[in-house]
Parts: sequence; structure tokens; C-alpha cells
Amino acid sequence: MQTETLLSGLKAAGEATRLRLLALCAQSELTVTELVHILGQSQPRVSRHLKLLCDAGLLDRFPEGTWAFYRLAERGGCEELSRALAELISPDDPALARDLARLDEVKRARQERAAEYFRANAGQWNQIRSLYVPETDVEAALLRVFAGRTIGELVDIGTGTGRMLELFADRIGRGVGVDTSREMLAVARARLQDKNLGNAQVRHADMYNLPLASASADAVTVHQVLHFVAEPAGAIREAARILAPGGRLAVVDFAPHTLEALRDEHAHRRLGFTHEEVAGWCRDAGLIPAAPVDLAGEPLTVTIWAADAPKGTVQ
Ligand SMILES: C[S@@+](CC[C@H](N)C(=O)[O-])C[C@H]1O[C@@H](n2cnc3c(N)ncnc32)[C@H](O)[C@@H]1O
Repeated sequence: MQTETLLSGLKAAGEATRLRLLALCAQSELTVTELVHILGQSQPRVSRHLKLLCDAGLLDRFPEGTWAFYRLAERGGCEELSRALAELISPDDPALARDLARLDEVKRARQERAAEYFRANAGQWNQIRSLYVPETDVEAALLRVFAGRTIGELVDIGTGTGRMLELFADRIGRGVGVDTSREMLAVARARLQDKNLGNAQVRHADMYNLPLASASADAVTVHQVLHFVAEPAGAIREAARILAPGGRLAVVDFAPHTLEALRDEHAHRRLGFTHEEVAGWCRDAGLIPAAPVDLAGEPLTVTIWAADAPKGTVQ
């Protein structure tokens, strides 16, 4: 680390509230409102401290609509310093112990909200799930599609409750789920936290315009998302953009079907896709499609389309 960066990082962290903020953000990603509740200080004051920590590269800020989440920086040169500082504070420190107890309250409240949302929607999801092969079969087949691959970075597009991140968590370096639904993201966050999946996170983002670098992901999953969206080809183009050379995209969706009710009752836009349709979008996006896998169910068949970014070429 350069002396200048180290000094500015230490200066930014050298204040009691800011050290507490670092320790808290090391535990969980948190909003300003949550941090205000935990610290018992005014919002402008907490926001000012957060800004100083972000400016020094010790914290990352992820805006999500009118909210913003803060967590320890992951890159940029100060990530080791912020982690080290947060770890140096003894858990027996009375101020930190109080903060952690309040953090627990915040987490519990989050989980209750998420569980409530789940309860309200579970009926709908179960109804659709009963129309095709057990989800465990789909997940096992999807894991096989990625068998033998080293996955540093996985991106799950339209992550919903974050199930794909959970499924792959012990096989990947890091997982990022993106979704446009704040409610879904709240459920996903609570679940990832509940299961202690520290290598996975979710972000509010649109699948057509991902806030992710080109050629950065080893694996991209799009699980039961495309039948809802207006422009599946655009979504695949954007997924191909972020795939690293040799990386693999897997799209999981329904084969063509005639259940119009899914449109009326569950907001489906497309009644499934043919093998060729999805493979064609993949080819147009510069990917090399593999043979699709069908999981025949009654009345819906689930298909897994895999496609690879050419090795040695940046999409
Ligand atoms: C049926 S859910 C599937 C969730 C998850 N992939 C799963 O299988 O459990 C479809 C998800 O796609 C998300 N979605 C729809 N349009 C999107 C867009 N333009 N960008 C990102 N996510 C989107 C929805 O909010 C929803 O969470």
C-alpha cells in the first residue's frame, strides 16, 4: 500500500463513530437508516461520516433507488486496511458490543419483513412449481452444466430470492445477484445473511444495463426470468458482454407450452421458448451454444440452455 493512501485511510478512520461504522459494515451491508438506528446519532451526522469513509476508499456505497447500502470496500486499494481496522476492535469493547446488539435487532426486523413477503407470495410460486419437475432436479441438472469449471465470479441475473447464489455458494469465489425488485432483493439479502453466505451479495440493477465490467464473470445464470421480460435477446446480449473468455451462460426457462393462464395469473409474457430461439440469441451475442437439456414435466418442460464465450476473445 502506498504511504499516502495508507495515511488518508488512517485519517478517515481516526474517529470514534467512523471506527464504529467500519466495525458495523464489516458485519453486514447496511443502509443509512439502519446505521442511524444502531448508532443513535442524527442522519446528517452519520451521512457525513459515511461520506468521509467512502471518499477514503474504506467503504463502498451501492445506491438502490432512494436507498443506499454501505459495506466494507472490496477493491480500490484500501480494502485490506478497512478489513484490518474493523478486525482490530475487540468484540468486548462496550461501544461495539452495544452496536452489535442493535445490529441484531435490525437483522431480526429485516428477516421478519422478508418472511412476511415470502408468506404473501409463496402460494403463487408453489402453484407454478407444481406444474413441472421438482426444483431439486432442475438444480442438480444446472450444477451438472457447470461441473468441473472453476468459477471465480458468478452473476445471477433476475436473482429474485437469491436461490441461485445459495445453490452455487460453495462452488464459487464470489456471487452477485441482480434484480429490479426491491422486495425480492430484501428477501434475498435476509436469506443470504441467514445462511451466512458471506461470498454472495445482491444489487439493484436492470438486466439490460448491468453495472458490471465487461469480461468479468466466469458464470452467468438466468433462472426462470426470460419468460417475464420484453426483450430476452437484449438480456442475453448483456449477459454475453460480462462473460469472461471461456465463461459460461446458463439460461433456465420453459419449453414452448400452451398454459395461457400463466399470462393472466402470473404475468408471464412468453409461453416458453424453442431450443433454436434461445440458441440463436446466444449465437447473435457471440456465444457458442451447447446442446440444450430438457427436463420433461407435466404439463411444463424446463430447458437449460448453456452457451460459452469463445476462449481468448473479449466479448
Ligand atoms: C420468477 S423470478 C425468478 C427469480 C430467480 N431467478 C429464481 O429462479 O428463483 C424473476 C425475477 O426477474 C426479475 N426481473 C424482471 N425484470 C428484470 C430486469 N429487467 N432486470 C433485472 N431483474 C428483473 C424479477 O424482479 C424477479 O425477481
